[in-house]
Amino acid sequence: MKAFKPHLAELPFYPYEHHQAPIKLDQNESPYDLPQALKDEVAERLKETPLNRYPAMDAGPIKRAIAAFEGWPEEGVVVAPGSNAVLSTLALAARRVLDLVPSFSLYKWAAKVAGTPWEGVPLGPEFELPTTALRAHLEDGEEPGVFFFPNPHAPTGRFWGPEVVESVVAPAAASGWLVVLDEAYYQFAPSDFKKPARELPFVIIARTFSKAWGLAGVRLGYLLADPGVAREIEKMLPPFRIPTPTAMFALAALENPGYLAETVEKIRRERERVYLELKAHPTWQVFKSHTNFLLIRTPDAEAAFTGLLKKGVLVRRMDNQPGLEGCIRVTIGTPVENDAFLKAAFELAEEERAEG
Ligand SMILES: Cc1ncc(COP(=O)(O)O)c(C=O)c1O
Repeated sequence: MKAFKPHLAELPFYPYEHHQAPIKLDQNESPYDLPQALKDEVAERLKETPLNRYPAMDAGPIKRAIAAFEGWPEEGVVVAPGSNAVLSTLALAARRVLDLVPSFSLYKWAAKVAGTPWEGVPLGPEFELPTTALRAHLEDGEEPGVFFFPNPHAPTGRFWGPEVVESVVAPAAASGWLVVLDEAYYQFAPSDFKKPARELPFVIIARTFSKAWGLAGVRLGYLLADPGVAREIEKMLPPFRIPTPTAMFALAALENPGYLAETVEKIRRERERVYLELKAHPTWQVFKSHTNFLLIRTPDAEAAFTGLLKKGVLVRRMDNQPGLEGCIRVTIGTPVENDAFLKAAFELAEEERAEG
């Protein structure tokens, strides 16, 4: 493809393969849809809404609602059709990207699309944050860039408290780096970094409606940034980018957030139950998680994945990333879905044992 920039010739596809299964636990979605009454209300309003008109240029109403919900200055809120979209823009803008290995695949993929130099720092053997190695990168005296830091971490589920986060954020600031703290799963964790971030203009918080809010199909994500930094990011984003129905569904959720706490509580409870039950699995090792998913090390990721799929349960293979050999990831679903997953997991162990 001569018309395209040469670096794109070797670009890998985004690592996701679609499979069909009765029990879908592969994308860290919420098992709970937007409450039916809210859906009906928005559907009714949509009928009266002119779709021949562009949405607001600056997505003002949804931005203001997010600002009010988060207690953040409106000028510091940047919205996008999914946090993926704005994270990709940050990877495009960056002089270089610093990443963790393993980490959320989008960061590396987006850097590769953009042709931005990418460096990955391996997590420790127990998925510890490699603070010394990170500091060495952040203070290497070269030009600064953007450090993508998911906390809670995907796909391990690890969570690092404010002191650990601060220990990498401080050297980043001193050398001009921007730290993107991706808090896609913050509702499932013991705390978040929003409050300290208010005082740190080089820290950007990224959040999404795709997980706890149960709105992955709506596609809405946002940044909480320093207003000056937000302006620089806004300049790079396409105009009229939040589709009218997206803004309407998200607004309805923000105006009626009562369902959120209940959903989060149910998922957290189920996560602990599935974690404890899986600890009894004879050949799988489950990792503690502060998200809506569990990472599991198996003797053979392909066998575990296909074995579960044959029993109607779809999970995600994670063994394509260094450090995640044998790993699969399961999203926490409804109690019934989780029971089906656990049953299938223990049946596989039994079948393996019987085969010797
Ligand atoms: C760490 C992390 N950030 C962001 C996202 C995606 O967010 P969105 O659906 O808003 O693009 C995900 C989804 O899997 C994720 O795991």
